[in-house]
Amino acid sequence: MDAFSIHGGQRLAGSISVDGSKNASLPLLAAALLTQEQVQFNCVPNLSDISNMGRLLEELGCNVIRDGEQVTVTSVDETQSHARYDIVRTMRASVCVLGPLLARRGEVRISMPGGCAFGDRPIDLHLRGLEALGAKIELDGGDIIARADRLHGATIFLGGPFGSTVLGTANVMSAATLAKGKTIIEQAACEPEITNLANLLNAMGAKISGAGTPRVTIEGVDELGGTTHTVMPDRIVAGTWAIAAAMTNGDVEIERFPLDHLLAVTDVLSTVGVHIHQTDTSQNPKSCTVQVVSDRSLQPVMFTTQPYPGFPTDLQAQMMALLCFSKGNSIITEKIYPERFMHVPELSRMGAKLVRQGSTVMVQGVDRLVGAPVMASDLRASASLVLAGLAAEGETIVSRVYHLDRGYASMETGLKKLGANIKRITDDQFVDGLPVVETIPAKKLIQTDR
Ligand code: EPU
Repeated sequence: MDAFSIHGGQRLAGSISVDGSKNASLPLLAAALLTQEQVQFNCVPNLSDISNMGRLLEELGCNVIRDGEQVTVTSVDETQSHARYDIVRTMRASVCVLGPLLARRGEVRISMPGGCAFGDRPIDLHLRGLEALGAKIELDGGDIIARADRLHGATIFLGGPFGSTVLGTANVMSAATLAKGKTIIEQAACEPEITNLANLLNAMGAKISGAGTPRVTIEGVDELGGTTHTVMPDRIVAGTWAIAAAMTNGDVEIERFPLDHLLAVTDVLSTVGVHIHQTDTSQNPKSCTVQVVSDRSLQPVMFTTQPYPGFPTDLQAQMMALLCFSKGNSIITEKIYPERFMHVPELSRMGAKLVRQGSTVMVQGVDRLVGAPVMASDLRASASLVLAGLAAEGETIVSRVYHLDRGYASMETGLKKLGANIKRITDDQFVDGLPVVETIPAKKLIQTDR
């Protein structure tokens, strides 16, 4: 398993561009199952989750062709409707084929996705929504089997104990496009990835209004067709780059930055003393160039993760790494996944002062973090450890980089371009479980009074 070796202390500077969004791409690619015509996607990120989705679509009878950042999907054999455990267990988001397969093929068998590193991830709301559209659902040998001759429109409440559900909304909205009659989804997820999906479906011939608000209306149609669609920039990757710049007291320009989708994050960052400004105001704030600079002295802050437009859970870990360097006590409350704190013990090993009580963590700012071997079994927790490594003294080894490869396309290449001292250690470079790397003396290069 690959690892990253990071020698902290380099100030990041220069320019970087944000790739297409992973979490938008997954339901978008699955939506190609709704037609036999070709659907072409631009700006698809090169990530292991995307390759896994491609593999799943191929097993489900699609031709999937990737050419650089362009992916075309054509559903040619509609007799396949079984999403097997082998693939579903590698990627929970495989569940987004459920709605499209059911609506188009009338039957789907999909292995029930398990929990993940940060707790239970139920799909009861997805199933409740599809049942309301007329699906008959049963469990058989760990698989969900859903059947329906033709779905029918319904009014569906999709709220759960932690707000709405993003992929649940994607599944029900996609399925309802081919249902007979009108569907109203109340308490739909408002995440921009849902709006991006609705835009694709409408371009394919669907009649969806209200996407991006809690009430989405879908007038069912008989058929959808092919189209070309550009995937939105990844707001979580964009936020991660911004925090990386702030961690190192850097000066970084970020292109294709979805400023409009990150207002909760830029608000918290500006309280902390990190300034993000759009360099050319004629650009669309959903994808524009920004410059990130930070004050030398960072202020503590209090924030809570929430459904969009609140602070995203997918940036909680990275923000915690930054707050380790603030001058005072910060309070972070996780309201989407109350157990999503795998980074806490690992950051503590680097010298962070963190006190967790339930779904809240108090971060007591420290003057320095010290490099250490660390690992986490979650994508965003791993990202926070890389960020901590960039600002820590000495060497940090982040193991299990395959988690990062799920959501950041060659993260080390981007960081290196900005001046970070980071390199990937491949499997064959480990001896007796320890990485073989040349030793670089620890230097404190970041000009800061933190
Ligand atoms: N929930 C239910 N029942 C359901 C579905 C969800 O109770 O049927 C609960 C969940 O347990 C959670 C909350 O509702 O507490 C929100 O979960 P949601 O369904 O919205 O999550 P998701 O759609 O499975 C997507 C992203 C996640 C991101 C969440 C929240 C994708 C592929 N995944 O997951 O991204 O954290 O929304 O914003 O879009 C990541 O990229 O690292 C990641 C985990």
